[in-house]
Amino acid sequence: MAIAEAPEPKRNMGKPEPRIDGRLKVTGQARYAADFPVSNTAYGFLVTSTIARGRITRIDLSAAKKVPGVLHIMTHENRPPLGTFEFVAKGGEAATAKPPLSTDRIDHQGEIVALVVAESLEDAREAAYNVKVEYDVEAPSSGLDSPGTKTVMAADINARHKDTHAGDPDRAFAEAAVKLDQTYRTPTQHHNAIELFSTTCAWSGDELTIYEPSQFVVGLQHGLAKEIGVDKTRIRVLSPFIGGAFGSKGSVTPRTAIVAVAAKILNRPIKLVARAQGFTVATYRAETRHRIRFGAAADGRIASYMHEAWELTSRTDDYMVGGTRSTEAMYATPNVDAKVRLVKADRNTPGFMRSPPEVPYMYALEAAMDELAFALKMDPVELRRINDTDKNPTNGAPYTSRSLMQCYDEAAKTFGWSKRNPEPQSMRDGDWLIGYSCATASYPTQMGPATARVRLTADGHVLVQIAGHDIGTGAYTVIGQQAAEQLGVPLRNVDVELGDSMLPPGPIAGGSITTASACSAVKLACDRVLARLSGSEDLTKAFETLGVGSIEEYAEYLPKGAKPSALTGLYQGKVSIVGGSGDKQTMYAFGAEFVEVRIHAHTREIRVPRLVGAFAAGRIMNTRTARSQLMGGMIWGISSALHEATEIDERFARYVNDNLADYQIPVNADIAEVDVILVPEEDSEINPVGVKGIGELGNVGTAAAVANAVFHATGVRIRDLPIRLEKLLATT
Ligand code: MOS
Repeated sequence: MAIAEAPEPKRNMGKPEPRIDGRLKVTGQARYAADFPVSNTAYGFLVTSTIARGRITRIDLSAAKKVPGVLHIMTHENRPPLGTFEFVAKGGEAATAKPPLSTDRIDHQGEIVALVVAESLEDAREAAYNVKVEYDVEAPSSGLDSPGTKTVMAADINARHKDTHAGDPDRAFAEAAVKLDQTYRTPTQHHNAIELFSTTCAWSGDELTIYEPSQFVVGLQHGLAKEIGVDKTRIRVLSPFIGGAFGSKGSVTPRTAIVAVAAKILNRPIKLVARAQGFTVATYRAETRHRIRFGAAADGRIASYMHEAWELTSRTDDYMVGGTRSTEAMYATPNVDAKVRLVKADRNTPGFMRSPPEVPYMYALEAAMDELAFALKMDPVELRRINDTDKNPTNGAPYTSRSLMQCYDEAAKTFGWSKRNPEPQSMRDGDWLIGYSCATASYPTQMGPATARVRLTADGHVLVQIAGHDIGTGAYTVIGQQAAEQLGVPLRNVDVELGDSMLPPGPIAGGSITTASACSAVKLACDRVLARLSGSEDLTKAFETLGVGSIEEYAEYLPKGAKPSALTGLYQGKVSIVGGSGDKQTMYAFGAEFVEVRIHAHTREIRVPRLVGAFAAGRIMNTRTARSQLMGGMIWGISSALHEATEIDERFARYVNDNLADYQIPVNADIAEVDVILVPEEDSEINPVGVKGIGELGNVGTAAAVANAVFHATGVRIRDLPIRLEKLLATT
């Protein structure tokens, strides 16, 4: 794949500064959670259940205890009491409300049944392999179509979700000139970040330090305080660098509490690193199914949009994504019916994974849009143009800005859309069938409350502190740029500290909110610093006049539309996110992604030689890190379209390819040209810095664009992701 230069900043875009933490990373000095040297560490290893549903009848530890070096084995029979586990979707921090080692009941395959602690990792692992667990086994339900699942309406159990019914969708559908009724599926996907799920807990007296990769150090601090019944001021969480998170490190998984209490019992630091067990002791993206019905007039105007969705969740928790809030705002469809159902099975609780609602729901919508365009004999870009809207049609709330069609126009031009023959199977190069298609990317513009401290010293150095996170996105750099540009100092003079719960509380690095939220807080703090300097151009003189060596200011940012209690909540580790589809305003970033696929006429091998994405997301802080983020998102989109799926053995509700070696993801040879176009956009409504956020935008829409291009190349619609060659072969 060609390495392109960072895009030239246009209009209001920030400079393509290289990452300020880049040198630390390439020289190995960046310290990830498991890298912190902690002396006298003991090692933990988890024993997990081999069944998905039933009861533990007996645990035999005799062989495990004979392994040299074993220090402690914790099971539900000897675990000390724990506090409360508040589920993340109910306003808490925990990835599941079921505390670890709390009962003999097993609710999913791979549930933690013991924690072994020993002098070395090898000792702990050997002892763990010698823990003998006997079960009473019950037949599990593994997935959406399994017998024994329980299906509930999401709106009945989740106070934050409402199904939408607007206008008269049934009648509009019945009367429509062109109708579509299709079902789309997305598979289970698992996090396979290069940095594993690790936890190191070290007590010093009554003070606990936790080294754990986290997208929300303040949330982990407060969540764990409740889980183990310790005052929150006695807990410090350190997570300055994160090697891939994507949602998997945003909530508190059960391992942390038991490692913390075991470390207290042994009065020794314990380090735990979960490898293959990451598939079941952390969260994942669950499978979804979507029935979409479109009714359209002959001119392409969509009269009816009905979207019924099913999402898989666990028996213990009601995790849901509910992406219809995003899809129903997309196009000018006045008659809408959207329903979300949760299907409860014997699986571990799903959780956040990059663009949790939009990846599956926008895939279904945008694949259906392509099918509708084909049925209408209309150009797919024109279908989006005809149905473009400046407001959410279901509630009339206007978009603060929406540059969707500018994205389509720019991407189409660069891609060479005009060379496309609309007829499926009409474009060919020797043995390769060529498909061109496109789809919309969108992601809600969201913000959370944030605080920041900024110190300017007389020699022109700046320190910015916020308990925010750089999950590989470039947050250190763009937060530094915000302060540098405002205070008029070079970026190299700015130090940025993140990822420490002792710093001023920052938001969860989720929902693509970090840049907008953290930079807004930093902006407010810098405004105060500048006010103290009262407009003086000469820094040295200004400091002399003030008679101080440095100025330090603290600021709190409360997003527009957030309740003041959200800020209080931030100090207590609560997640609060506003934006997206609101009652008064609609805030989204948009993109248009165009893809060329080539499919071998005989083997059906699928290649993606070209992907062009144009994105408009308010102010772009840094065109280099933005390009990188959007490119990474599109590459994951190719993965969703063609590669990734967790296979499930339905007899045992067990993941089969439960490790990075067996889990299919694209390699370099699968990715060719990926072109990112940044479309300038200004939006002063959303937040003080005009930033929309791009962490999740790029991988929305890609899967549909690829699937649509596969149809264009072959004339075959595969509606169940991923589209692998065997599915294409089965149809020809
Ligand atoms: Mo992201 S799935 O909101 O970390």
